[in-house]
Amino acid sequence: MNKQTNFFTWTEESIREAAQLLIQQEVVAFPTETVYGLGANASNEQAVAKIFEAKGRPADNPLIVHVSNKDQIKQYVTEITPLAEKIIDAFMPGPVTVILPSNGSIAKNVTAGLTTVGIRIPDHPAARELIEQADIPIAAPSANISGKPSPTSAIHVYQDLNGKIAGILDGGPTGVGLESTVVDCTTDVPIILRPGGVSAADIEQVTGVPVKDTARHEEEQTPKAPGMKYNHYEPDAPLALVFGDHTYFQALINEYQQTGKKVGVLISEELAPKLSADYMKVCGSIIDLSTIAAHLYEGLRSFKRTDVDIILTETYPEEAVGQAIMNRLTKAASITHHQ
Ligand code: TXA
Ligand code: MG
Repeated sequence: MNKQTNFFTWTEESIREAAQLLIQQEVVAFPTETVYGLGANASNEQAVAKIFEAKGRPADNPLIVHVSNKDQIKQYVTEITPLAEKIIDAFMPGPVTVILPSNGSIAKNVTAGLTTVGIRIPDHPAARELIEQADIPIAAPSANISGKPSPTSAIHVYQDLNGKIAGILDGGPTGVGLESTVVDCTTDVPIILRPGGVSAADIEQVTGVPVKDTARHEEEQTPKAPGMKYNHYEPDAPLALVFGDHTYFQALINEYQQTGKKVGVLISEELAPKLSADYMKVCGSIIDLSTIAAHLYEGLRSFKRTDVDIILTETYPEEAVGQAIMNRLTKAASITHHQ
């Protein structure tokens, strides 16, 4: 399939044009505060099918429905559970998705046959203007080819999907840089199916209930968010997680280089001056892990333009957004080195 992909810079006029494409059951990528989404009319099965086709996404992996206010959530669920109510009021618009019992009014392929639906209100003015202008619920996964790191700028979307979708709305780089926290709110205890922009501690504080974190104990049970079982965030060379200090890190780099490999490193600005490698990509500061989150996917993607044979990445404390960072790095990595 080769389509003409319209590239829109975010203006009032371009929001109208992008909304028009959505109404015509076409697929349009748009910015959110987490990552770029690949949107289509969530009420129309044919439109939603185009998302799966463009991304090469398995049909059993459900999509998140994006709406612009709380009243719209009520239209697609049998009830907003008390748990969901607290999370919605505290964090939406924002980087969190609630899983609620579906009332069946959304297209069947959005929920991949599940009886639940994932919904969120994105905290990005372009996303909300687009939803309001189109006046439809928008189903949207991250706007990358399945298995690749999620896009945090319109250029990433272009690299993955140009010629496969009707439009890309460019709203600049996203803020959070990692996907929303997915929380199952169908029971009395919030279950985090995917860690993200809102931390487990934040959710505990607001709900007053200790959360269950399936993403951290995946080996113990089958993951409930179907998407979590697939390969994710794969960079273009094997990724190795490094747990250890800078002397250990440098020794690993030297070892790989001695076997003839070109080594790339994905590190913080604090570690950078202490290392030497073939290609160094700094993605933020350990003093503020949200800066690492914001540039992580761009960092993983940056090695595409190099000839590195292996990427070694720094690892981070699993606190707050560090949990989401380590969840994504662990999924992207095929090798682990411990000091
Ligand atoms: O930040 C985000 O959430 C971004 C932006 C575009 O909104 N979207 C995103 O979508 O990351 P996607 O499709 O890449 O990831 C959605 C995740 C998948 O792991 C999927 O399995 C899970 O949410 N999910 C969706 N609906 C679900 C449901 N009804 N029950 C359980 N998990 C669900
Ligand atoms: Mg995704």
